[in-house]
Amino acid sequence: MNLDEARERAVRLVEEINAHDYNYYVLDSPVISDREYDLLKRELEKLEKKFPQLVTPDSPTQRVGGKPLETFKSVSHTAPMLSLDNAFSINELWDFVRRIKNYSGIKELEYVVEPKMDGLAVSLLYKSGVLVRGATRGDGYVGEDITHNIRTIKSVPLKLRERVDLEVRGEVYFPSKAFQELNDRRAEEGYPLFANPRNAAAGSMRQLDPVIAASRPLNIFIYGMGSYEGFPFRTHMEMLKYLKELGLRVNPYTALYTDFDLVVETCQSWAVKRYELPYEIDGMVIKINDLEIQSLAGYTARSPRWAVAYKFPAEQVETTVEDIQVSVGRTGALTPIALLAPVKVSGSVVKRASLHNEDILREKGVKIGDRVIIHKAGEVIPELVKVLVEKRTGNEKEFVMPQSCPACGQQVAHIPGEVALRCMNSTCPVQMYERIVHFASRGAMDIEGLGPAVAKMLWEKRLVEDVADLYYLKKEELVALERMGEKSADNLLEAIQDSKKNPLNKLLYGLGPRFLGDKGSKVIAEHFGSLEHIISASTEEMIAVPEIGPKIAASIVEFFQNPSNLQVVEKLHTAGVNLQQSQKQGEEGQQILEGQTFVLTGKLESFSRSEAQSRIESLGGRVTSSVSRNTDYVVAGENPGSKMEQARSLEVRVLTEKQFQEILTAKTGIVD
Ligand code: IVH
Repeated sequence: MNLDEARERAVRLVEEINAHDYNYYVLDSPVISDREYDLLKRELEKLEKKFPQLVTPDSPTQRVGGKPLETFKSVSHTAPMLSLDNAFSINELWDFVRRIKNYSGIKELEYVVEPKMDGLAVSLLYKSGVLVRGATRGDGYVGEDITHNIRTIKSVPLKLRERVDLEVRGEVYFPSKAFQELNDRRAEEGYPLFANPRNAAAGSMRQLDPVIAASRPLNIFIYGMGSYEGFPFRTHMEMLKYLKELGLRVNPYTALYTDFDLVVETCQSWAVKRYELPYEIDGMVIKINDLEIQSLAGYTARSPRWAVAYKFPAEQVETTVEDIQVSVGRTGALTPIALLAPVKVSGSVVKRASLHNEDILREKGVKIGDRVIIHKAGEVIPELVKVLVEKRTGNEKEFVMPQSCPACGQQVAHIPGEVALRCMNSTCPVQMYERIVHFASRGAMDIEGLGPAVAKMLWEKRLVEDVADLYYLKKEELVALERMGEKSADNLLEAIQDSKKNPLNKLLYGLGPRFLGDKGSKVIAEHFGSLEHIISASTEEMIAVPEIGPKIAASIVEFFQNPSNLQVVEKLHTAGVNLQQSQKQGEEGQQILEGQTFVLTGKLESFSRSEAQSRIESLGGRVTSSVSRNTDYVVAGENPGSKMEQARSLEVRVLTEKQFQEILTAKTGIVD
């Protein structure tokens, strides 16, 4: 084949594959089989390899670019990317429509109702129909250039059906099922989990290496344009129709109404139907259809007056407590857990809710067989809100905390001053296995591939009885495990090997003396410089270290007085694990906020700043002073100020004090 023939064929293939991508990814209705599609793609790849000069930017082979970027470039938005005003109740929805009627003086309005996608707002710029840039919203005025990641989203056309110049806006989202699978995989591999699909979408788009975004099934809905100047539309619906004709993906549940009662009804019915969608929505967006009325209504500094976001109320669901089980943690703490008749809450099936400890169990007054109300604290953690005492039949069974450990059978006890009952047997099997999981976790030795599933197998096969045994594992032992191939075994061994070089603070945290979090570990490791010095330090010397209180000090000293712990240290030493300090930082108990960064702003009612900070840190979270792309949550008290704005513009989740408290309560069981 000569160059001209090759060019002709390549152009044809690009067109054909792009059309199939459109059918598959935008319309959800493929017309050829996967195999036929693969053959076309392979033919194009071969052709482009042979004649590299034929590669065009809109070629489907060019979705994942070459090398990862070094940094993100900033992008100035020509028209600001604003936010939406929220309506938290039907009353507030009616307020919106009254306001707009007053502003415009028009009584007969048309409304477009669209699902409010819970993802990441992006801008796509097309020049002569070719995608030239994708950007995040940033602060609304300046965002980041994420073209390399946007190109990997298969439903984003690299070339439109017309050679037009335009900028469209939409929401990149992570489909729910794929999100669940991603988190399951991450849990298995010992990575921190994404709190929700929105974070997963944002996290994927903020990667310098497009390979990561390409490996995730992200999708997009387009809901508007940066500017429609020069286009002849009269209405929002006409605009969407045009965008669809260009090949862009518009949400099919977008609907037009003239009667606001119907708008309200639609919003209410979606509050239930939302869970049938394969992606998460957190509300409905209502927009005035007429573009002229839109411009009459205009904008406030933050948001258009012609649109509002109706936010769904947090869901509360009734179910039955089928049983109460007690789990044992790494430190031997016994946690009662309510096993529930499975129910769907806020989009996922909930089967268990922690009851935290005996005090809370008693306070809630839960019995086996009770009908209860549950919800998700912060839309994430299942929590039992209350018992429906009026629904008792008399057949409910009282639950009493066991006097012996459900895992090893040894006696349990209350340590004075603590609410939790504890198994005091340091060789209790469940504690052992949980310790391995903790040792390998991200904040500790960060051993990739050693999540709960693998740790459990290693423990059950007695390949690892204490954490030091990890360093003596052999390949043949690993490959004999279920679902462990040669490659995974090699990777795991390499990750274990690599962890030997970790700084002492990670090892210390991983060993897990009680109350010692990752932050305290860092302070101690930096102060003493070597494990040898830590082991020989007295309680007084420990207390003398800034930020280290008597409880932690005593716990560390006790830990290293225990002969079996010293034996583990010896084995680690022999295996060549680094016992000296050079580097990193959190706190005690359930490290459920591990890896999460918080910013506090405004005046909180129930906590001082430092109390809030220490509560977050005690759960493994971090508090920083300014909002950035790395911030996971902003907790906003009264008069929050500019950090709030920044959070909005960076699309960082903002928690009210109540939500924040809910999260703390749910996670620690501390009820203030
Ligand atoms: S319109 C000027 N429509 O919600 C207003 N936004 O809180 C432009 N969002 O940043 C937004 N679905 O990322 C609009 N159907 C939809 C939406 C939607 C989700 C997001 C968008 C925006 C945020 C505003």
